[in-house]
Amino acid sequence: MGIAGLGAAAGEDLLTNNDLEKMVDTSDEWIKTRTGIGARHITRPETATSDLAYQAAVEGLADAGLTGADLDLIIVCTVTPDMPFPSTACLLQARLGATRAAAFDIEAACSGFIYGLAVGGQFVASRTYDTVLVIGAETLTKITDYTDRATCVLFGDGAGAAVLRPVGEGEGILSTVLGADGSGGELLMQPAGGSRLPASHETVDKRLHYIHMSGSDVFKFAVKVMGEAADAAIERAGLSREDVDFLVPHQANRRIIDAAARRLGLPADKVIVNIGEFGNMSSASIPVALHEAVRSGRIKRGDVVVLVAFGAGLTWGSTALRWCR
Ligand code: UT7
Repeated sequence: MGIAGLGAAAGEDLLTNNDLEKMVDTSDEWIKTRTGIGARHITRPETATSDLAYQAAVEGLADAGLTGADLDLIIVCTVTPDMPFPSTACLLQARLGATRAAAFDIEAACSGFIYGLAVGGQFVASRTYDTVLVIGAETLTKITDYTDRATCVLFGDGAGAAVLRPVGEGEGILSTVLGADGSGGELLMQPAGGSRLPASHETVDKRLHYIHMSGSDVFKFAVKVMGEAADAAIERAGLSREDVDFLVPHQANRRIIDAAARRLGLPADKVIVNIGEFGNMSSASIPVALHEAVRSGRIKRGDVVVLVAFGAGLTWGSTALRWCR
């Protein structure tokens, strides 16, 4: 199976480093040199994750020449659902008029889109379903603490949608590698709001509904796991590093991306980077970057593309595919 259509969306407003300089003790220079981020797209208060997912889905379906009525399954990968339940996928199903489609959410944080492709792809490969919509969609700025300079400079809002369909032999998704290490769960979390710490005045006062992160520990984990996961996906596809035309990494930090590319021996012109304009959009970062690279004509039919992500959980994942459109 492979990707038959792509769509993307981003928050309506731009939050620049200069804006952040007025909010916390930081500087454009620090943010750019430590992360590579210049700006991030943020949503307005009235915009929810399913709104971004909807925009991306409509474009992805049109790109594939399909409508919501053609969908068999919708998977939304997100850590910022509109609400705990119903799932964001169900909200989207109604809005798309996808009356035949089953719908559920996947939560694998920034690795979500890779997990979603893997799960959705199984339904197509097994011929259970023909048409599966996989979306990475996030409004991380809704759970970002704008008094914490160590995290608030990083995140943005967006969504990327991929329509999975059967494709020819040797095309489309060639291999997938997924992994998790739950012992690192505390390094990156939203502590409250679930059954362990239900929402209360105390949890709100203690700012426990925001993202809490041990940045340098996540950084070290990311550099190691990105290279290893990408290598494993390349090997599982029966390919070598030299066969890779493009790497589309999770956009968390420019230094993490550069270090992973160096480990893989890939020159800069083979690495898709859009973090400068979008920041870290968690599960949306890879499909948005892929969409941009395909739309601009950089990624073309026949190219070998490796997607690789890491995230909270801890989780990681990589997919090798031959672009088939
Ligand atoms: O999708 C997965 C999500 N998370 C990640 O991928 C995050 C991975 N980690 C990172 O990207 C980096 O660790 C950060 C960008 C978060 C931080 O960069 P770092 O180079 O690891 O900095 P650090 O945390 O070691 O902090 C260095 C200094 C500290 O000051 P002192 O203690 O040396 O005086 C921080 O307080 O930089 C300070 N600092 C800042 N200074 C200005 C931290 N954030 C900021 C800031 N502006 N925004």
